Amino acid sequence: MAKLLLEHLDKPNINTLDGYRNHNGYKALEKAMKMRDADIVEEVKKSGLRGRGGAGFPTGMKWSFIAKPEGVPRYLVCNADESEPGTFKDRYLMERIPHLLIEGMIISAFALGAKTSYIYIRGEMMYVYHILQKAIDECYAAGLLGKNISGSGFDHDLHVHCGAGAYICGEETGLIESLEGKRGNPRIKPPFPAVKGVWDCPTVVNNVETLAAIVPIINMGGDEYAKIGIGKSTGTKLISASGHINKPGVYEIELGVPVEEFIYSENYCGGIRNGKKLKAVVAGGSSVPILPAELILKTAKGEPRLMSYESLSDGGFQTGTMLGSGGFIVMDESTSVVKNLWNFTRFYHHESCGQCSPCREGTGWMEKILHKILDGHGTIADIDLLWDIQSKIEGKTICPLGEAASWPVAAAIRHFRSEFEEYVRSGSSMKDVKHYYRVNNLVEA
Ligand SMILES: Cc1cc2nc3c(=O)[nH]c(=O)nc-3n(C[C@H](O)[C@H](O)[C@H](O)COP(=O)(O)O)c2cc1C
Repeated sequence: MAKLLLEHLDKPNINTLDGYRNHNGYKALEKAMKMRDADIVEEVKKSGLRGRGGAGFPTGMKWSFIAKPEGVPRYLVCNADESEPGTFKDRYLMERIPHLLIEGMIISAFALGAKTSYIYIRGEMMYVYHILQKAIDECYAAGLLGKNISGSGFDHDLHVHCGAGAYICGEETGLIESLEGKRGNPRIKPPFPAVKGVWDCPTVVNNVETLAAIVPIINMGGDEYAKIGIGKSTGTKLISASGHINKPGVYEIELGVPVEEFIYSENYCGGIRNGKKLKAVVAGGSSVPILPAELILKTAKGEPRLMSYESLSDGGFQTGTMLGSGGFIVMDESTSVVKNLWNFTRFYHHESCGQCSPCREGTGWMEKILHKILDGHGTIADIDLLWDIQSKIEGKTICPLGEAASWPVAAAIRHFRSEFEEYVRSGSSMKDVKHYYRVNNLVEA
């Protein structure tokens, strides 16, 4: 089982420059500095690495889109906002092995010709901000950042910028606005950041894990990296596993592991808690479609479902889902899909930036209707209305927060409609839901 990112996690002082260097740290940078920038991009292309932030866009291809107008600076931005419910792998990586990200960023910046880069970190992760800043200070003192890095002639400055805790600032153009000191409203694309990004200059935005993966790619070469994984899902992937499993945590998997093995093997989640049955899984963070047990374990064709971009999306949204950011939320038979959906929908309503009316209004209406159903006042027509509203958000907003809010609703109704109907028929009470409010201090008890 290949471990490329978390291999040295348990080594002493791996969070310090010395500890990191004791385990091959900054060897990839040394190698990269002797390469031509275009050759680094070529290695990344050969590796088949796909963005680990959620969309899975090929990283080498994204890098090759960066505009290079004469005399205009270019920027690299690391997206460390990580606010997607169920996703906590970037925080884990930055907390424990910050130099892996920094090394990946210096190499990437060199390949892109960016003299300045930023790590945009979610506001609630202030303590990780300090961990990163300490690691950056060590790099400046050692000549790995600043002027003429390691005598290469390449100058590079790296800044950490703390957001204020808004999910929308994880969307790359919302992030860029926020980085520029403005409200984090996503921009209309095109122009894409590769042409007009930070300060209207060409910019590449990549996820923490994507940039960390550049280190093993340079160390082993793109072709070798591409041998790990399956098909177009190359390399390893960090999975944040949570929910009703025996061993929640962050796992580095080789892409292609069967979902069943991931859930039940002692090497990973260790099975369902308290011997209960698996009911459903949200495989890639709260915005991807939920799948019932039978469809997450096997595709509609009856083949074992694998932890890969292709296998998880097999069957489209009718019977499949997405790998997304790898936030793997496991639900046992005691879970209410409707309550869970209400919880997610409240989040999207709260986090909608409000620029686009379908998202601003639609998320609120979906939350209200779900609340009504859970409160025992729903009708069958409300389920249809919910379906109708989600269909009017998808594809009609500036940024994909609209899809992120509508897909979970569509999938829950598609696969668990009878559960909604049961709430309507039984006239459920809000007792449990009120408890949820109390623990989160949102309303008076
Ligand atoms: C509402 C919203 C929130 C997002 N949050 C994150 C995030 O926290 N981290 C992240 O890397 N990408 C996030 N993304 C995806 C980014 O827009 C972007 O695609 C990603 O940073 C690109 O990096 P990658 O190519 O390395 O995956 C989000 C997208 C949306 C629509």
